Amino acid sequence: MDKTFYITTPIYYPSAKPHMGHAYSSIIADFFARFKRIDGFDVQFLTGTDEHGLKIQRSAEKQNIDPLEFCNQISQTFRDLSQTLNLTNTDFIRTTEERHKKTVQHLWNELEKNDDIYLSKYSGWYSVSDEAFYNEDEIEEFNGVKRSISSKSPVEWIEEESYFFRLSKWEKPLLDYYESHPNFIAPESRKNEVISFVKSGLKDLSVSRKSFSWGIKVPNNKDHVIYVWLDALTNYLSALNYPNTNDKLFKNFWPASIHLIGKDILRFHAVYWPAFLLATKIELPLRVFGHGWILSGDEKMSKSKGNILDPIEIINEYGLDPLRYYLIKEVSFGNDGNISQERLENCINSDLANNFGNLCQRVTTFAIKNCNGKIPSEIEFQKDDLIILNKYKVNLDKIRSKIDEQNINFYIDYIVNSLFEANKYFNDQEPWNKKDNLVRLNTIVYTTLEIVRKISFLLNPIIPESSLKALKIFNLTQSDIELETISDNEFLTKGKDINKIDILFKKIEKKND
Ligand code: MSP
Repeated sequence: MDKTFYITTPIYYPSAKPHMGHAYSSIIADFFARFKRIDGFDVQFLTGTDEHGLKIQRSAEKQNIDPLEFCNQISQTFRDLSQTLNLTNTDFIRTTEERHKKTVQHLWNELEKNDDIYLSKYSGWYSVSDEAFYNEDEIEEFNGVKRSISSKSPVEWIEEESYFFRLSKWEKPLLDYYESHPNFIAPESRKNEVISFVKSGLKDLSVSRKSFSWGIKVPNNKDHVIYVWLDALTNYLSALNYPNTNDKLFKNFWPASIHLIGKDILRFHAVYWPAFLLATKIELPLRVFGHGWILSGDEKMSKSKGNILDPIEIINEYGLDPLRYYLIKEVSFGNDGNISQERLENCINSDLANNFGNLCQRVTTFAIKNCNGKIPSEIEFQKDDLIILNKYKVNLDKIRSKIDEQNINFYIDYIVNSLFEANKYFNDQEPWNKKDNLVRLNTIVYTTLEIVRKISFLLNPIIPESSLKALKIFNLTQSDIELETISDNEFLTKGKDINKIDILFKKIEKKND
């Protein structure tokens, strides 16, 4: 199958319950997965949990629970969240699974075989919260505590025997790769950060730890566990059954189309991961996209800062689709954003209830009354109708290519404009004044219904549940949604019954006090 698409989210640390930042990465990945699926692609969509390392071991110790038991509990809350967010992930991987351990140890052996790993001693700064090593010039002192300048997480000094990966050897090949694959890292600003980091010189990377045991053992040296990032990054391959390169999953879906990640973990995905892959002669993923953060106030949310926003609370109050719509529309993709109750309520009242929900209700109510409750049969398109209808056909390839550039902002603007134009068309054409010209009345109704159908298809990856509710007007279900058909102006079967639908979005009463 040539139309395949493999998208991954980061695998999340199950050190605490999921928060809005995790929900954000997952919802965006789901949006792309759903879009590609309605565009006829065979999609593999992976998410999961990253369960080894000192961060998790310490979190479990704090609660006096065995680390695996601790992970079992919290990983389940991430799995549950996938359902709550209506994600269409095709797999959920846990790094404590046997399938994953085998792949990691295989990769380690390959690196060792190629002389990319050697035993030495590490001394330097380490942040348990980030599971990252930092150079002297990447840390600062704040209130007497040393911390990472970029993440603000505290660092501790470690000195121990460690295996090293010859990262320095890959400096030049990485720079060459970035140059010959200009789309590998996105957005552009992030790419520049990565390139200047690599140009500043790469030191060999410590890839094992000896002072704790919660991890995958180094083959042939059980005193060491494999560095949690080498372990975690490999999940993208273990989920495709690598090293079984004859496996259908691996054959169809590697290299990954896109690793979607937060900008905080770009270095791991755009420097370490490609270096491991170059060293083991495995093809590199096609794209690594580092999105912005969901801020709470001015800061990134995190458990240690105590400023967590709970997605479940927002969903309970406003519903899932409004949250999905908000995150996709109001957080400019690639930049940081935040959750403002006022802007969320505006999205619901104005875009969703007024512009989309209301249009669906108005045209169906009108058709039920004036067209015998059926999709009109006798129609004759005029210029005005064709202008608005043909727009979708004309822009279809542009929409596809914008999505391939991860330009979500274009996509959502396109929908918002389309809704505006559709409402304007229905108002300007005044079908209620055309009762003496039934063909014209029918044509306006048919055109508007067609537009409702096309926009509901486009909205499907963003607000899947509501889009399906709207499509009940025509008795259409998920499997009827094919992006290609938005270029068809007579997709709706003439003469078929129209169904009345429930209100799609309830308006929020604004409290002024
Ligand atoms: N376990 C590693 C990732 C390993 S991937 C091989 C990790 N986990 S994490 O749980 O700390 O965060 C994972 C991702 O969650 C971030 O990269 C980002 O995509 C998302 N977010 C976490 N906090 C976030 C915000 N406040 N805002 C937006 N996304 C953020 O790092």
